[in-house]
Amino acid sequence: MLASQETKVAYEVNGPLNLTEIAGWLRESDPRRLEALWRRADRVRQQNVGAQVHLRGLIEFSNYCVRRCAYCGLRAPNRRIERYRMPPDEILECVHQAVAFGYGTVVLQSGEDLAVTTDEIANLVRRIKRETNLAVTLSLGERAVDEWAAWREAGADRYLLRFETSNRELYHRLHPPRNGRDSDRMVMLSSLRRLGYEVGSGVMIGIPGQTYDDLARDIAWFAELDLDMIGVGPYLVHPETPLADERAYLPAAGDDQVEASEAMTYRVIALARLVCPRANVPATTALATLNRRNGRELGLQRGANVVMPNLTPPRYRALYEIYPEKACLAETASACHGCLATRIRNLNREMGQGRGDSPNRARRKD
Ligand code: 5AD
Ligand code: FES
Repeated sequence: MLASQETKVAYEVNGPLNLTEIAGWLRESDPRRLEALWRRADRVRQQNVGAQVHLRGLIEFSNYCVRRCAYCGLRAPNRRIERYRMPPDEILECVHQAVAFGYGTVVLQSGEDLAVTTDEIANLVRRIKRETNLAVTLSLGERAVDEWAAWREAGADRYLLRFETSNRELYHRLHPPRNGRDSDRMVMLSSLRRLGYEVGSGVMIGIPGQTYDDLARDIAWFAELDLDMIGVGPYLVHPETPLADERAYLPAAGDDQVEASEAMTYRVIALARLVCPRANVPATTALATLNRRNGRELGLQRGANVVMPNLTPPRYRALYEIYPEKACLAETASACHGCLATRIRNLNREMGQGRGDSPNRARRKD
């Protein structure tokens, strides 16, 4: 009895984490030590953001994209997917479903679809704000600062833009520039912050060429950027992308290559919680894709406090193929709603009430 208590104490994870420690946890394979990491992340989650699981209704309203990201199925050169763009009335129908299900937020997501104008998005946001009390999150990729400003003015509350990797060289290998200009997402994230958005970002785990030290630095960046929302998920191979042929595309990171696994995703979720205790952290669809049975539950028990039920009508959702065999591909909005409500109840957690704003926002105003 005593011995096992001592063991527990010895494996406790305490204090702030430095880069070496973060990298150490990413490489950790001792199940007892990992168990201590999960427990600590779960406790820090409970202490800082409580038992509520916030639901963010996801509407994937357009799969057009002008970019050529090496890993993504929506990339412009992929002629094998049929493209769609939902008309505003149809988007609003999904928004009203979010209200009916009791969600506090809708997330409007698309590829970088430049045919949807600044004003069209602004009008959509205004309509949602007029007709509902929902928080609005935008996830529309890299757009111009004056567009972000116009949407914020129209009432948008939050913006999601993953930086994908903090390794500049790897970033540039994966993201060909548009109009010959390299993008700097760290700069973009600070612009979004200045405009008064709650800012969300994150990375893919196990992208070819990503080392443990890269991923440790990514996690340190979460804290540096003081993120309100942190979304992470495993990299999943899409056959219609250049990265599917990764050996031809990238020099291997060798033994240092991070694996794109479920286990690695939990490590990153837990560490994200420890470095940003008050952030909203979703258990993502990519994680659920690797473990349909209980991936989301394990994410929620290892630091996450958000899920993103999909509201996209099934006929479109099948075409929003960022990676293949996405969880919930053929489901309806109400199937996802029922499924997630049951899962949350079975975990003895509560359905989030209200908008689930970032607790950081109040602190920043002080
Ligand atoms: N596997 C996993 N995640 C992906 N994303 C894009 N392509 C893939 C893929 N093949 C993630 C990126 C992007 C988010 C919308 O989806 O991180 O920011
Ligand atoms: Fe979509 Fe479970 S969340 S079916």
